Amino acid sequence: SSTAAKSQITIRLCGPRGFCAGVDRAIQIVVLALKEFGAPVYVRHEIVHNRYVVEGLEAKGAIFVEELGEIPPEHRKQPVVFSAHGVPKSVPADADQRNLFYLDATCPLVSKVHKQAMRHHRLGRHVVLIGHAGHPEVIGTMGQLPEGSVSLIETVEDADLYVPPDPDNLGYVTQTTLSVDDTAGVIKRLHERFPNLTAPAADSICYATTNRQEAVKQAAPGCDLFLIVGAPNSSNSKRLVEVALRAGAKKSVLVQRASEIDWEAIGDISTVGLSAGASAPEVIVNEIIEAFRERYDATVELADTVEENENFLVNRELRHVELTAA
Ligand code: F3S
Repeated sequence: SSTAAKSQITIRLCGPRGFCAGVDRAIQIVVLALKEFGAPVYVRHEIVHNRYVVEGLEAKGAIFVEELGEIPPEHRKQPVVFSAHGVPKSVPADADQRNLFYLDATCPLVSKVHKQAMRHHRLGRHVVLIGHAGHPEVIGTMGQLPEGSVSLIETVEDADLYVPPDPDNLGYVTQTTLSVDDTAGVIKRLHERFPNLTAPAADSICYATTNRQEAVKQAAPGCDLFLIVGAPNSSNSKRLVEVALRAGAKKSVLVQRASEIDWEAIGDISTVGLSAGASAPEVIVNEIIEAFRERYDATVELADTVEENENFLVNRELRHVELTAA
């Protein structure tokens, strides 16, 4: 038979992987808003960093915009959804000014970080935000506080060079999707330099980021290749590639679809690790497993670490829609 010609490989499928509770909630908000208010539903910024998800929602009648000014006046009564990454305070203020009806899909765990940053500020601390410049979550967190009251630190080198307004009055928070290990290094250095630096009441890196990194870390040793399903602008997905390499995978690549896999470059392999970032849908994981099955005699081995049970409620305005939809 034709399978006899295929070489054997093992796919180590990591769990937990893929959608987190915040992404799941954000997508539900758009879907439920379409059901309740009809198309179009506007969405400010990619609801989650995934093309497949965005195109699926567009097909249902969602329109993605970068700024509220792009919403035509005749559609002012249609809802606009703010993405899971969170928004600066200026965005809902702008929406109010324009008389727009908005639904905030900011992940509750991002909102928690916003609250911690505001708490530091209220208690007179200058806020240090550890994160990646330009990421929408970082823009959103910085935008919770007046200009000049937050400093962004990206690396240990930044921590070395940082000159605070008052070294004894500092509080930090972080982006939710950072590398657990790298962030620990940055915080350690900041603590060495500023012993009175105050930590947030709870860790800012979220459960989903932590669990996906841990699962990849455990599965990576001995992998010839580690594929991470995710978009190039997805922070948590990019971190999974780094974790896989650091934990011993010989090679690791971020892919958005099975069609992006460079089969020529893969060469002779026996073990492939597979996981997905928090914004990557499971259908693409399955698509990739199928693509391997077409070319190899593949055995899928589950590499599960912990079980996740998180589930976030949608906005109050949509809860009745959710019930009737079920
Ligand atoms: Fe929220 Fe973490 Fe997902 S902050 S959106 S649960 S990656």
